[in-house]
Amino acid sequence: MAAVVFLLVLTALCSSTELAHAQDEDAPITRHYKFNIRMKNVTRLCVTKPIITVNGQYPGPRIVAREGDRVIVKVVNHVPNNITIHWHGIRQRRSGWADGPAYITQCPIQRGQSYTYNFTVTGQRGTLFYHAHISWIRATVHGPIVILPKRGVPYPFPKPHKEVPILFGEWWNKDAEAVISRALRTGGGPNVSDSYTINGLPGLLYNCSSKDTFKLRVSPGKTYLLRLINAALNDELFFSIANHTLTVVEADAVYVKPFQTDVLLITPGQTTNVLLQAKPYSPNTTFLMAARPYVTGLGTFDNSTTVGILQYKTKQGQSNSTSLFNDLPLIMPTLPALNDTNFAANFSSNFRSLANSQFPANVPRVVDRRFFFTVGLGSSPCPKNQTCQGPNGTKFSASVNNVSFALPATALLQAHFSSQSAGVYTADFPSTPLIPFNYTGTPPNNTKVINGTKVVVLRFNTSVELVMQDTSVLGAEAHPLHLHGFNFFVVGQGFGNYDPIKDPANFNLADPVERNTVSVPSGGWVAVRFLADNPGVWFMHCHFEVHLSWGLKMAWVVLDGPLPNQRLPPPPLDLPKC
Ligand code: C2O
Repeated sequence: MAAVVFLLVLTALCSSTELAHAQDEDAPITRHYKFNIRMKNVTRLCVTKPIITVNGQYPGPRIVAREGDRVIVKVVNHVPNNITIHWHGIRQRRSGWADGPAYITQCPIQRGQSYTYNFTVTGQRGTLFYHAHISWIRATVHGPIVILPKRGVPYPFPKPHKEVPILFGEWWNKDAEAVISRALRTGGGPNVSDSYTINGLPGLLYNCSSKDTFKLRVSPGKTYLLRLINAALNDELFFSIANHTLTVVEADAVYVKPFQTDVLLITPGQTTNVLLQAKPYSPNTTFLMAARPYVTGLGTFDNSTTVGILQYKTKQGQSNSTSLFNDLPLIMPTLPALNDTNFAANFSSNFRSLANSQFPANVPRVVDRRFFFTVGLGSSPCPKNQTCQGPNGTKFSASVNNVSFALPATALLQAHFSSQSAGVYTADFPSTPLIPFNYTGTPPNNTKVINGTKVVVLRFNTSVELVMQDTSVLGAEAHPLHLHGFNFFVVGQGFGNYDPIKDPANFNLADPVERNTVSVPSGGWVAVRFLADNPGVWFMHCHFEVHLSWGLKMAWVVLDGPLPNQRLPPPPLDLPKC
């Protein structure tokens, strides 16, 4: 007894010493955030409009955590619209209730209500982002997630002098919610955005926007880590900084083998960390950074360019003043042609996992279940007594294996957890197309799309191989496919129709890139593998918001495993009701 008391006293004493303090700092901590969702008037391109924001900020505030930390975000909805927030790329191991897609893992947070997202960041470090996951509200509700390595663990690349999130977005002069609701009513394509943005700023190539230009101030000779995030709704983007080569070091919060490039391509939903090495002197020039779209589809698109300024500090540590930069020559980077699909294919093949002992690539070697999904656009009939503005007077629709996913009226995860799937979803999502056809050739016109809430059910720890095949039914088009709850390994990609006999021989099972979003090549296919070791309901969809709205989405239900730590815990008490 005396010994126990003595130990307790000792522990109490120790906790005030320097040593114990240092140990506490190393341990994972809980980080609390509060997101007040509220309207705020914002002016861009000389248009002032109320937008939905996090805490009045556009883009939203930064979430910073260390690997291993717990993150708790209380979201309070003060706007009329229903809201959910998704922590894009966070694995959510056994915390599916915090994932966020509306009607998949939760009912939305209604006006005046709140929900507290609670998750732990495990085995990930790098850049991710959060965004609203209902309708098109993510147009203005998004922000960076910065995951630092555990304390004392260095980056596997030179330590940068500074780290700068660079978030790409799209700005509509009209209300983005009105844009998509009109498109869904008429069946036609939505109005394209009025500008792209860098950290919320369109930049000086747009009318009435020169003061809304992002500036990156750098010191000569220093190295900067740029955390690039594509939060745009509907466009893959090329990005480049004039006269500077960038070194890619991480993708979707996983380190990659470093490689150098003058131009990056980043799809909506992807994040990429790059090192920018500033020149050793302060040049008498202002360099521009620029982003503009990579476009493969047939529809209209925002054909504009957002730019920011790379500004060198002078010896005295002063920036060339803003008035001065007008006098300095402006150098614009060169970007690939808008439809440069060869660039896209070459660029994506540069990404490789580190695949070393510290950061192994745990690629599933043995496959339990194989899936072949077509992804692409189609059309659905125009309702009677209505005229529609989609292809040949129909309505645009989009599908996976010709199933256009219909959101249920209650959340799939709740239905699954309480074993009440009847009337909510069916477990008959097709694992291959019901009617095979020449996917990338002259399309047949019998590609009927059905509407339904269909899922694939996977047993715990199933290793999955999934080939996603673009279709040319309404023109070949690249589709950035995003999987919730997992990273996948991108083991192969190619153009034309996937050949299940020949193509697997070329799969990279040694060091494929591990990510959460991959672009299915325009007129081609991509093969991914993942281990379904996370129980819950996991959304998978095209991260082009317009295709998501048209139904290019499905869900995986991963069952509980036999052990207690392989089961999804019950829902939090404040989980919103529909
Ligand atoms: Cu970034 Cu389901 O989304």
